Amino acid sequence: MEIVIKKLPCKSEAPMDLLLEADPSEEKINDYLKNGNIYLAEHEKKTVGVLVLMQIGNSSMEIMNLAVNDHFRGKGIAKKLIAHAKQVCADQNIENLEIGTGNSSLDQLALYQKCGFRMRIVIENYFIDHYEEPIYENGIQCMDMVRLKMNVRTLEALQI
Ligand SMILES: CC(C)(COP(=O)(O)OP(=O)(O)OC[C@H]1O[C@@H](n2cnc3c(N)ncnc32)[C@H](O)[C@@H]1OP(=O)(O)O)[C@@H](O)C(=O)NCCC(=O)NCCS
Repeated sequence: MEIVIKKLPCKSEAPMDLLLEADPSEEKINDYLKNGNIYLAEHEKKTVGVLVLMQIGNSSMEIMNLAVNDHFRGKGIAKKLIAHAKQVCADQNIENLEIGTGNSSLDQLALYQKCGFRMRIVIENYFIDHYEEPIYENGIQCMDMVRLKMNVRTLEALQI
């Protein structure tokens, strides 16, 4: 499947429906869109995926949001968006790529590790303290944030 990834020049055109699939808080999304960059994955000129990257400190970039339209999941689009994020880091000479997800996001934890991320820290109660409504996935309450990281210069990261 041919996928074209491009940076969205105008943040007001952010695909909010898709962004909300990865993060239920529109307020938080609007907050990180101020400093982040949006990349769209397109198939035949239709938006099928989104990635938001934000630089944190001098040596790290964080994936703030990653979502794929549900009709297009399981086709490797998220993997392509993560590969693109690695390339953006490499182009900007940024050493680390980071991502945070919930303890209950089992499929996402699998995906990120397949892409070369390693689990680094757990922020206890993050989703209880920062989100108004309780979140459940896979029959598990989403309570803690698992933070994963990769050094984009290592061989492990370059292989994907
Ligand atoms: C998470 C999401 C972005 C994945 O997008 P996608 O395009 O379907 O993902 P891909 O097809 O690129 O890759 C999925 C990979 O994860 C693997 N995977 C998924 N669930 C898995 C599991 N439970 N165990 C093992 N591997 C799993 C798949 O097998 C595949 O790897 P493979 O190619 O080696 O088989 C998509 O499901 C989505 O948008 N979900 C809603 C938003 C969301 O949760 N975003 C993340 C917020 S933290």
